[in-house]
Amino acid sequence: MEDIITMAIESSCDETAVAIIKNGREVLTNIISTQIETHKKFGGVVPEVASRKHIENIDIVVEEALEEANMKFNDITHIAVTYGPGLVGALLVGLSYAKALAYTLGIPLVGVNHIEGHLSANYIAHKDLVPPFITLIVSGGHTHLVEVSDYGKYEILGKTRDDASGEAFDKIARAMGLGYPGGPIIDRLAKEGNREAIDFPRAYMDDGYDFSFSGLKSSVLNYLNAKKMKGEEIVVEDVAASFQEAVVEVLATKALKAAKDKGYDIITLSGGVASNSRLREKIVELASGTNIDVKYPPLVLCTDNAAMIGCAGYYNYIAGIRDDMSLNAVPNLKIGER
Ligand code: KG4
Ligand code: ZN
Repeated sequence: MEDIITMAIESSCDETAVAIIKNGREVLTNIISTQIETHKKFGGVVPEVASRKHIENIDIVVEEALEEANMKFNDITHIAVTYGPGLVGALLVGLSYAKALAYTLGIPLVGVNHIEGHLSANYIAHKDLVPPFITLIVSGGHTHLVEVSDYGKYEILGKTRDDASGEAFDKIARAMGLGYPGGPIIDRLAKEGNREAIDFPRAYMDDGYDFSFSGLKSSVLNYLNAKKMKGEEIVVEDVAASFQEAVVEVLATKALKAAKDKGYDIITLSGGVASNSRLREKIVELASGTNIDVKYPPLVLCTDNAAMIGCAGYYNYIAGIRDDMSLNAVPNLKIGER
């Protein structure tokens, strides 16, 4: 059988990324041009700036990907592109570019859901991984607990009712003046702190599968304000460790509960927050002694990248999914929706 070569384009937030993937799971190249340095000075992603940067970068990143994979446009079987969810202006840059490429080359265009991309990162990292499994998708924009019954077949068991888990990390880091993005900084500081120092609340939501982080966020902000008012010292390492523990304990507990309730023996983690060292440790800890195996991708495949989009795009492609030039950006696209 002839190899299927996917060129994937991702521009939903602040990474301009292009990857070339062979037969769905073999990464030939995965180029990520991040705008973090640009957005750092604003304390978060500025949508207009993100779009402009994508326009500046996309040509260069595509060229670089072809060069690194030692390929020509003619070697590409189809184009996969993120069309949602994400920032509309940012999405449109990658999508317009992808349409132009597919049209000019006369090859199929396949739209990819960014969240489905995140969970597909595990297919690349674990070559033997096949559905069904439970997946916890935790990023700056999403917190979903999903049952994956087959490729492209998803049931959302639970999701956040307010902030995404990564958003909570970013907001708390900002409140402590630690910088952007907050997740990796808090993860690092937490290693030096005591996670039992402060008893922040855990929102278990009556044992269901939904999440909520706004109460925890308020509690941390109140703690910081009270300390400031009293002129007392804030031990940032302890706040970081205690806050992080409150987030990961709920995430890990609910993921494990879902796997047990539904009778699955694999849990995968994905998304930027899946890089969190304590989340990984906690969920492995909770799963030890059970028959549940926990899998997560390497750091580079957790945060936004195009390899994961290429993998999801490949499975869409072999399932016969094709898009045409009318494909539009869908900023609030849900998982499992087309
Ligand atoms: O998946 P991603 O790159 O973008 C979205 O699709 O949202 O995730 C970015 C998010 C940010 O909120 C960032 O703070 C968080 O992932 N993050 C982490 C860690 N690394 C990145 N959160 C906790 N611990 C980390 N080590
Ligand atoms: Zn993402």
